[in-house]
Amino acid sequence: MARKQAEIADRLRRMRWWRDARFGMFVHWGLYSQMGRHEWVMNRERIPRREYERYAATWKPQPRPMRQWARLARQAGMKYMVLTTKHHEGFCLWDSQATDYNAARCGPGRDLVREYVEACREFDLKIGLYYSLMDWHHPDGARCAADVAARRRFCAYTQTLVRELLTNYGRIDILWYDVPWPLKTPALWESAKMNAMVRRLQPHIIINNRSQLPEDFDTPEEQVAPQPAQDGRGWEACMTYNGSWGYMPSAIDWRSNREVLEMLRTCTAYDGNLLLNVGPKADGTVPEEARWRLSALGRWIDTHAEALYGPVTRVDTTQVEWMPTGSWSLKDAGCTAYFWCRHWPGNGELVLGGIRSKIRHIANVTRGLPVAFTQSGARTVLTGLPRRCPDPLAGVTIFKLVCDGKFRQVLGPGCVVLRDRARRS
Ligand code: GLC
Repeated sequence: MARKQAEIADRLRRMRWWRDARFGMFVHWGLYSQMGRHEWVMNRERIPRREYERYAATWKPQPRPMRQWARLARQAGMKYMVLTTKHHEGFCLWDSQATDYNAARCGPGRDLVREYVEACREFDLKIGLYYSLMDWHHPDGARCAADVAARRRFCAYTQTLVRELLTNYGRIDILWYDVPWPLKTPALWESAKMNAMVRRLQPHIIINNRSQLPEDFDTPEEQVAPQPAQDGRGWEACMTYNGSWGYMPSAIDWRSNREVLEMLRTCTAYDGNLLLNVGPKADGTVPEEARWRLSALGRWIDTHAEALYGPVTRVDTTQVEWMPTGSWSLKDAGCTAYFWCRHWPGNGELVLGGIRSKIRHIANVTRGLPVAFTQSGARTVLTGLPRRCPDPLAGVTIFKLVCDGKFRQVLGPGCVVLRDRARRS
């Protein structure tokens, strides 16, 4: 019991920066970036291993493109990055001693992980390393499922690579495992042993749940699905920007800043993080479509930083109601409510029904101005608002409601009953 408590306390301490950070950049970059047909191209097009290997020789990235990613991440209000150091294709982006199939010994001719780590440090971003357990290139990568000797060899190989990543580059903040195919249990992967090694090497590190052990955080993918907060664990939604993780110019359905802001709002409301992906081109440049979106997003976040970053109070769904005009997030033990208004009413007022808490003060965070309001019975009316939505970047305005005590809104489907109840309270 005491041990469990100590484990939780340690996790909460290690994850404090991560919780406050809210927003990170995922970067998928590898040999597949040259083809521009998704990072699963080797598997989906059944490209034979020998043929795929040729891309290791032809990959010639520009010098230090990671500085561009890092600068962009900072501009976008992101606080950390996670790079695919080895994706399912099996190609290592660093100078590994365990395989020649790596960036230093092939086309790029240099250690791309080192350059990445240096760029993160230069731009003051926390450093995450993604590592795919599944490996389509290693001869034991599939065989390990049925052959005991192959499994032992493959686990030893995996542990060697992970050890290199966590030994050669100084402090690493996040280890982000992916796809544990084809071994069906953490025992077969020797995950407990491997992660114990990781923690010995980097005691403050945060590890995700994809080595089949829960470790520090859950990773809902392509959905912003809040996960329960057990044992101090966190959750992080990882999202593509356009449906593909790897560079894919034909994937043109880019998510709008309004969509991304709603993702961020959900993460903020339920104390989770958003890891938004960019897939750089083979030369390392970030597609234009991601660049301009991210810089506008960053300007929005800059104005609304106080709502987004830092410790939040996880919304209890019995405490807030849906509104056609927007949604909530909470801070300060639930005494401060932020209303993210994404449908501007346009009649000079914003009416919020059913608020049971006494409101002391309302501010328009977007404009940095106090807002006049009346609160009578079940109706709170924000008055004197401009007709046009004050946020030119995404049409999302935030109002901050500072309350005496915990914020609570009660509506429900029936008008009459609730109006009566509100009168009594
Ligand atoms: C999936 C995909 C992979 C991607 C990852 C990101 O597991 O297999 O391509 O890297 O999601 O979460």
